[in-house]
Amino acid sequence: MAYLLAMDQGTSSSRSIVFRDGEVVASVQQEFRQIFPQPGWVEHDAQELWDSQLATSRAVLAKAGLHAADIAALGITNQRETTVVWDRATGRPIFNAIVWQDRRTEALCQQLRNDGLADTIRRKTGLVLDPYFSATKLKWILDNVDGARRRADNGELAFGTVDSWLVWNLTGGKLHVTDASNAARTMLWNIHEGCWDQELLDCLGIPAALLPQVHPSSHMFGHTDAAWLGGAVPIGGIAGDQQAALFGQACFKAGMAKNTYGTGCFMLLNTGSASAESHNGLISTAACQVGQARQYALEGSVFIGGAVVQWLRDGLQAIEQAADIEALAASVPDAGGVVFVPSFTGLGAPYWVPSAKGAIFGLSRGTTVAHIARAALESIAFQSAALLQAMQRDAAAPITELRVDGGACANSLLLQFQADLLGIPVVRPKVTETTALGAASLAGLAAGIYSGTSDLSAQWRVDRVFEPVISRDEAQRRMQAWEQAIARIGTG
Ligand code: G3P
Repeated sequence: MAYLLAMDQGTSSSRSIVFRDGEVVASVQQEFRQIFPQPGWVEHDAQELWDSQLATSRAVLAKAGLHAADIAALGITNQRETTVVWDRATGRPIFNAIVWQDRRTEALCQQLRNDGLADTIRRKTGLVLDPYFSATKLKWILDNVDGARRRADNGELAFGTVDSWLVWNLTGGKLHVTDASNAARTMLWNIHEGCWDQELLDCLGIPAALLPQVHPSSHMFGHTDAAWLGGAVPIGGIAGDQQAALFGQACFKAGMAKNTYGTGCFMLLNTGSASAESHNGLISTAACQVGQARQYALEGSVFIGGAVVQWLRDGLQAIEQAADIEALAASVPDAGGVVFVPSFTGLGAPYWVPSAKGAIFGLSRGTTVAHIARAALESIAFQSAALLQAMQRDAAAPITELRVDGGACANSLLLQFQADLLGIPVVRPKVTETTALGAASLAGLAAGIYSGTSDLSAQWRVDRVFEPVISRDEAQRRMQAWEQAIARIGTG
């Protein structure tokens, strides 16, 4: 019974994957609606998140020919920061989930910055005061949904990131929990003391009664209600998707780094038992916690990574399917001087310009859609390279390789360009579903399928290593062109 089930509730889709010995046995994915009520606002219907997640889990068991009793444990991983508030009595959300990309609370963040709160927040939570994180989204719901604040004060409501929302549903409302890696993204959790921070709760007017209980990421949380999957399944792991990917990439030692190319790009560097303070626009966050010892990571988040390919497909209608971008981009030798800054939802790390909009520079009469596609692909690598450079400046020791995963890392053109820019090897593992693998591994540890992280390191395998081939001068010249474009965005 060494099967492990991972639920991976992401920004663009819900996925469920069954693993055995670190290999994918079966996988099912379902997209759901992206809701854009106003420019800069992004919402999901929380009920759809749960329904699609449950549907994929049922479907993946059927696809693998398995039953609940065959699953040793379930691991949950999720889009982080996305904020759900629901009624404890009915289990119904009182508002759509406000997605991590949503910028509606920028004015509130500015007000908090003016009040001098940025330093306190950075010191306690490791985060930059930005609409990205849950706290101001939660405050927005309390301040804007009729009766919400009164009901929150009365203890009638529950807040959670998507993991909490799924576990609440999976357990029929018995458990209101999260893990350290998700709590660390709320901007209300003190990453050094490992607790909800009363001073921050007071500053933002958030009643503590709303908050979930926080546990290590690998932990026996409880069991799913037997009705959902045809039998009770132990829930043994919860982690935010990027920390789960760091874990799934077997980056267990300080100094090991990974980059996930998903909707956004998320680069995390394991800093071990010490939280490193960034002086270069990165954030400090809790990594997956196994046992009582806290683990930390430095993180750089790019808001638009693979989503730029979606925009080329859906917005510009330049390609039919996302995978077509590689051939289109490869049909020209270079981007022809085009630089594409896809900051559709503001610029994240290391620049932090919440009000930035996207822009395409360097257009000429000779520019074709292929050049734009190539520049779009390059933008993913440029943004990631800027993160790694910032990380190199913050890190105690040089970063010697970058492990990569996520949908867009199937694109070898992108990974070669990434290695060229970085000047270090870029390593693609055999299993690139590392987010789900990380969640399954956390659950497997809690269930005793693995005896320790050395078992997980042993099962991690390389598919291909991309070595840098261009000169460092050339790489620097390319980065300078990118930074010039960023400077123009940053100053409006
Ligand atoms: O911080 C947001 C991140 O967790 C979203 O990840 O994979 O859904 O784009 P993804």
